[in-house]
Amino acid sequence: MCTIIFFILDKVKIIHLPKFEDLRGNLSFVEGDNHIPFEIKRTYWIYDVPGGQVRGGHAFKEQQEIIIALSGSLDVIIDDGVKKKTFSLHRSYYGLYIPSGFWRQMINFSTNSLALVLSSTYYNENDYIRDYNDFLKFRKIYAK
Ligand code: TYD
Repeated sequence: MCTIIFFILDKVKIIHLPKFEDLRGNLSFVEGDNHIPFEIKRTYWIYDVPGGQVRGGHAFKEQQEIIIALSGSLDVIIDDGVKKKTFSLHRSYYGLYIPSGFWRQMINFSTNSLALVLSSTYYNENDYIRDYNDFLKFRKIYAK
């Protein structure tokens, strides 16, 4: 059972989105169920984050998501209950895919950064796990 938990972080990955380079400027796009493994139900964005502030700090039972730093940069710390890994988002054509069931924190927002989140679910407060000990309990059940 431990082995499963140890390798579970591999499911979190950076997806390189299409990028059309042009003298007039670059263009990237994303299609649900094509470039990313779910249908997009909702998008939201995080912006005007004061220096040093942390967003996230919770897990989702069901929601899968993609985080894209449309502008500026940020780091996302992913925690599977055993190991942590930090992903740096600093290109607007990188999408960080996070399956359900991971604790995630967003830190080191650069000035004027804009983070877009593509979500597989509608907003549902009951999908959040906001207490870290509850998350660890959830992971135990999830890993069986
Ligand atoms: P939350 O996801 O808790 O943000 P963070 O984890 O960065 O602190 O969202 C903050 C609040 O915004 C939440 O309590 C309710 C509201 N909210 C919505 O109403 N709809 C949404 O789609 C999202 C993402 C948040």
